[in-house]
Amino acid sequence: MNKFVNIAIVGLGQVGIYLYNELKIKKKDIEIKTGKKIQIVAISARNKNKKRKFNIDKKIFYSNPLNIFKEKHVDILFECVGLSDGISKKVTENALKKKINVITPNKTLIAKHGDYLAKLAEKHNVNLEFEASVAGGIPIIKTIKDGLFTNKINKVYGILNGTTNYILTEMEKTGETFDNVLKKAQQLGYAEPGNPKLDLNGFDAFAKVRILSALSYNSLISKKKCIMEGIENIDVKDIKIANQLNLRIKLLGISEIINGKLFETVHPCLVGKNTYIGNVNGVMNAVITHGKPVGETILQGEGAGPGPTSSSLLSDLVSILRGGIKNPFGISSNKRKKAQVLNNNLYTNSLYLRFEVNDKSGVLSNITNRFAKFKISIKRIIQTPDKKNKKATIVIITHKTTEINARNCLSIFKKNKNILKFPTLIRLYN
Ligand SMILES: NC(=O)c1ccc[n+]([C@@H]2O[C@H](COP(=O)([O-])OP(=O)(O)OC[C@H]3O[C@@H](n4cnc5c(N)ncnc54)[C@H](OP(=O)(O)O)[C@@H]3O)[C@@H](O)[C@H]2O)c1
Repeated sequence: MNKFVNIAIVGLGQVGIYLYNELKIKKKDIEIKTGKKIQIVAISARNKNKKRKFNIDKKIFYSNPLNIFKEKHVDILFECVGLSDGISKKVTENALKKKINVITPNKTLIAKHGDYLAKLAEKHNVNLEFEASVAGGIPIIKTIKDGLFTNKINKVYGILNGTTNYILTEMEKTGETFDNVLKKAQQLGYAEPGNPKLDLNGFDAFAKVRILSALSYNSLISKKKCIMEGIENIDVKDIKIANQLNLRIKLLGISEIINGKLFETVHPCLVGKNTYIGNVNGVMNAVITHGKPVGETILQGEGAGPGPTSSSLLSDLVSILRGGIKNPFGISSNKRKKAQVLNNNLYTNSLYLRFEVNDKSGVLSNITNRFAKFKISIKRIIQTPDKKNKKATIVIITHKTTEINARNCLSIFKKNKNILKFPTLIRLYN
């Protein structure tokens, strides 16, 4: 790459426009650090006249980003649109085929098409970097690809979504319902105002888990259907009960090698209040890796927002400007193997189960007999009567059991007239 480096930014939303401004402010600093003079030669979004946080140079604006390739020489392109397919994929593909380096914060694009795009980058001898796609400003991808490169990683997990962590933290702090706290998160810009579903249902965290697995185990991105649960059904009642048990609810993304097989999941977990992960609160993210011989490594920081995201995008930029072509997933794509995947039914946990029941004799023994039949041993029972309404809440904490066994055991409670709704299940994290 010569001394003058031409840059294009496609997508000028929250991230793209912040990055545009940062590149202008930090141009000199980047030159001092890398010896390269960067220049933004093209920008693209849907609407040229939209009011944006920072003024843009309309002379270099493209409504169709594909026209940039016809008219401008570009060395590095930032894809900041955010779709898993469509224009995000088209622009990235086109750029790589034209030997243009690509940097993206787009986890859905990488989780879905990362293997294909990495091969394309390798074939055309350019870089495809995506540090900002997982945990915003936390440099977890470079940590796995470079810092921990020679370790055998067997587990990577953490809090990978700031929106859900904020909501759970606020529900515990204020005792407010999920819906009320969600509204507050939207007002503060922590949750998307239109459709926050992909954060809340675990999808966002799951895309990140898939990217982390591929990097950690040198494998191709898994496509298997996994256990993915979000926080939409977490009741403030469960948060209060957890509090009494010295536990806290966190949405964890987990990738682990169990008996030589890959297991990936996202679901709410009960964790000890005195554990590290139990104290990562608010919009913070944290990623924990277990490797040999290094042991446990923890990175914590802001997992979203234009500032932290730009920090990672600029770190990718500097890495490219310093020179060299790197394999997007750390090793050559044809050396990455398809991971053998663990059957979801064999996933094993202690369980927290909350039953809402009619306060009648025989109901508790009904439940415990069912547990005995499935050899699920009970660690603790807490029964709270609601005398006025002749109802009771029964919370049962079990010893470890498999998903399939728990599912089969609980299935009967769908049609029991004394059990007022199907029990709430939250897995305990060791
Ligand atoms: N926001 C965060 O905190 C955060 C954190 C980490 C990672 N990310 C990732 O960063 C990426 C961008 O997120 P964002 O929050 O900045 O999204 P956003 O605010 O929705 O911005 C999307 C941008 O893409 C533009 N766009 C849409 N369709 C286009 C098309 N066909 N051609 C050209 N431009 C088009 C939009 O144009 P208009 O502005 O004209 O509508 C808009 O500027 C996503 O992959 C996201 O997952 C975001």
